[in-house]
Amino acid sequence: MGRIPHPFRHTDKSLSHSDLVHLLVLGDPLATRRLLDAAYWTKSQTVGRTVYLRGLIEISNICRRNCFYCGIRRDNPSVNRYQLTQDQILDAARLAHASGFGSIVLQGGERTDAAFVDFIARTLTRIRQETDRRLGITLSLGEQSADTYGTWFRHGADRYLLRLETTNPQLFRNFHPDDQVYANRLECLAHLRRIGYQVGTGVMVGLPGQTPDDLADDILFFKEHDIDMVGMGPFIPHPDTVYAPLIPGFDRRRQLQLSLRMIALTRLVLPDVNIAATTALQALDPEGRELGLKAGANVVMPNLTDAAHRGDYLLYPGKPQLDEASPEGQADLRETIGMLGEQIGFGLRGDPLHFSRRPRSGRA
Ligand code: 5AD
Repeated sequence: MGRIPHPFRHTDKSLSHSDLVHLLVLGDPLATRRLLDAAYWTKSQTVGRTVYLRGLIEISNICRRNCFYCGIRRDNPSVNRYQLTQDQILDAARLAHASGFGSIVLQGGERTDAAFVDFIARTLTRIRQETDRRLGITLSLGEQSADTYGTWFRHGADRYLLRLETTNPQLFRNFHPDDQVYANRLECLAHLRRIGYQVGTGVMVGLPGQTPDDLADDILFFKEHDIDMVGMGPFIPHPDTVYAPLIPGFDRRRQLQLSLRMIALTRLVLPDVNIAATTALQALDPEGRELGLKAGANVVMPNLTDAAHRGDYLLYPGKPQLDEASPEGQADLRETIGMLGEQIGFGLRGDPLHFSRRPRSGRA
């Protein structure tokens, strides 16, 4: 793919806020195609055409937070709460390792009690021991103290994902109860960075009241804060939340298109970061993940959570329930990615190129 689509030549470092707004609201399908192609070209030239796998293990849906949009928020009585045992997590991690996944993500509801902090620390130690210290480990367990982040880093976590959900503090307030403060998320990201993690953040795309200006600000925020990894997905109203009335008019196509443009513009502005083609894209379109890869994403997160608990981790409706750990699931993944002209980075951790380029502290 040698052709550089015309209006986007050499744009990676020079897209201004108003350029981004303009490109986010593109109505013309041909211009949109060119934007997505330009992002794909930039990805091919910088991080290459390898898709890195992160085996996603949803360790628990017990959460102390009550985010208004989220299906597993604390006050949703319809959720059947679970917490995987250490052995169950270890089984999933071993499966990831044996299947050639270079990295795993332990994701779960937010808990900050000492027993949980210790449970995660001990689990990290065991994962490292039992997988020859070769698996990259990402945590996605919400807002924690600097001490906790430090403890988990010392026990072997390499990366941390903490979405801001939006970088507009007013909008953040609209979507969260008063005990959640935007400034604290910023502080958490600063701690993670100082400790030495590869730092990931992201936003939901298409939140009610979110403007193209807000989304352009989000992308520039990732750039200014030197973020290593970005995970963004479309907002999808959940029936057990205050957004249920939006469901009848919910425009899946529009949400998907806007999310793909966000991925493309993020790739153009931050060429060397890792960008995930998130599961929420797949919830809107069975090919959402492939479309994300074609728009500039380079990471996918196949879900390795045991089938028994899959249905209890519904952050939003329509979350795919595929069994991607099975040999058939893996063959499918290999085939779909191969058809895009990409290869899977089996056995590779897939650390973000951006991280290897930035100055930082190291693990003791
Ligand atoms: N639609 C899309 N994404 C959601 N998340 C939670 N609820 C929803 C929803 N209704 C995302 C948030 C959160 C992550 C765990 O899941 O971005 O950070």
